[in-house]
Amino acid sequence: MAIKHGIAERLLAVCVGLCIVQATLAVEPVSRTAPHWLPLAQDELHDPAVSALNLLQNPSEALSKFPRDVAGNQVDWVKALEKGYIRPHVSIRSNTQIKVLDLDVLRRNTGEMDMVLFPHKQHTEWLACSNCHEELFKSKAGATKFGMFDILNGEYCGRCHGAVAFPLTECKRCHNVPLSPIAIPAQAQ
Ligand code: HEC
Ligand code: HEC
Ligand code: HEC
Repeated sequence: MAIKHGIAERLLAVCVGLCIVQATLAVEPVSRTAPHWLPLAQDELHDPAVSALNLLQNPSEALSKFPRDVAGNQVDWVKALEKGYIRPHVSIRSNTQIKVLDLDVLRRNTGEMDMVLFPHKQHTEWLACSNCHEELFKSKAGATKFGMFDILNGEYCGRCHGAVAFPLTECKRCHNVPLSPIAIPAQAQ
């Protein structure tokens, strides 16, 4: 009984968390249609009294030529990299080699939501293995136990998504593989 009660509480917490995320989406409809980059002097992060602010490009100038996204800072950074709009330095040390791994991991524990295909390729173009292994994720598909509740709490995928990578309101970018009632039990064996 105690265990069941615990699960019910967890699910409730996930639902409340997701409602908050969805509510945030609902009050920001403008951000999903047109870019709305504030000038640095008005973004309430930079001090408008500092004259050196003029040395920085405003986001509307710096970001408007990049492939558009509807969320976060409204740039699709994966596309920007793929299409060659940006070519970031791998490291401040000139001899660093990057290791891009083209390996997808399907996470199926998504209830009634579409499943999550985690792409290594798009991550290892920016990140070294040690950012995620073995502390955050085990190097074995399905071995790391976590759910949406943990992610909304800023753990696992939520360490970066919602912080430096696209936000958690973009459910479909992660929940991107349709549930197939026939395929799941067959593949799960
Ligand atoms: C952004 C985070 C992240 C980075 C960076 C990353 N991985 Fe992973 N890796 C994961 C996740 C998430 C899983 C799935 C873990 C799970 O399901 O429990 C995984 C799983 C794996 C697996 C198991 C695959 C399987 O089918 O069992 C291997 C092997 C692996 N990673 C190797 C690497 C290597 C090598 C690198 C660097 C080139 C790397 N990973 C970089 C997140 C990452
Ligand atoms: C950054 C990627 C990412 C985003 C964005 C994301 N999810 Fe998830 N979600 C996951 C992963 C990974 C799991 C766990 C899958 C597993 O363990 O096999 C998960 C699990 C879930 C589950 C299963 C129940 C649970 O407690 O784990 C639900 C329901 C869910 N997500 C709903 C949502 C909704 C609704 C949104 C948008 C508001 C969303 N997710 C956004 C990655 C994401
Ligand atoms: C260490 C940081 C980090 C972690 C942890 C992380 N991501 Fe990401 N993820 C990124 C970055 C950086 C990008 C590229 C920038 C962007 O899209 O915002 C990205 C991009 C993605 C993309 C977009 C790929 C594309 O083709 O557009 C998906 C899907 C994704 N992540 C899913 C996940 C899931 C699911 C997890 C957890 C299992 C996860 N990520 C964990 C940093 C991370």
